[in-house]
Amino acid sequence: MVEVDHRTTLLDLLRENLGLTGSKKGCDHGQCGACTVLLEGRRVNSCLMLAVAQEGYEIVTVEGLAAAAGPDGDLHPLQRAFLDRDAFQCGYCTPGQLCSAVGMLEEAKAGQPSVVTDMEQPTDAPVQLTPAEIRERLSGNLCRCGAYSNIVNAVQDVIA
Ligand code: FES
Ligand code: FES
Repeated sequence: MVEVDHRTTLLDLLRENLGLTGSKKGCDHGQCGACTVLLEGRRVNSCLMLAVAQEGYEIVTVEGLAAAAGPDGDLHPLQRAFLDRDAFQCGYCTPGQLCSAVGMLEEAKAGQPSVVTDMEQPTDAPVQLTPAEIRERLSGNLCRCGAYSNIVNAVQDVIA
């Protein structure tokens, strides 16, 4: 149990109160995606969420992705792919990119369309993550270093 001011955002709770500094504060306005975490499996901008409203919900940060992969310092397959593909430079956006990509994989598997999805596709069928789909679905995560092409390559490695 953590007691926080009712105005505390989920991002500040994670970083300031719980010491989970993997999630980054880029804009603090819901514009950059650096603070993306998984809330009950769905990706959210934690800078826009009030911490007190999330009581009882499962929240996974980038630290949790690795922890879920195994006890011996294993990495989530996406984390491994980002390393193999050199999908970052400064790394500031990377935790958000990773959490967002994990959420994206689940959304596509569940058949949730994006704006570039073929409208003829059956709504309950998984969406094939083409490079255009990946770019569109990760467009809420900005990278000031411009590592976008290698991020797409890394995601494609995981779904191959
Ligand atoms: Fe949350 Fe930029 S810090 S979207
Ligand atoms: Fe630097 Fe994306 S790797 S902001």
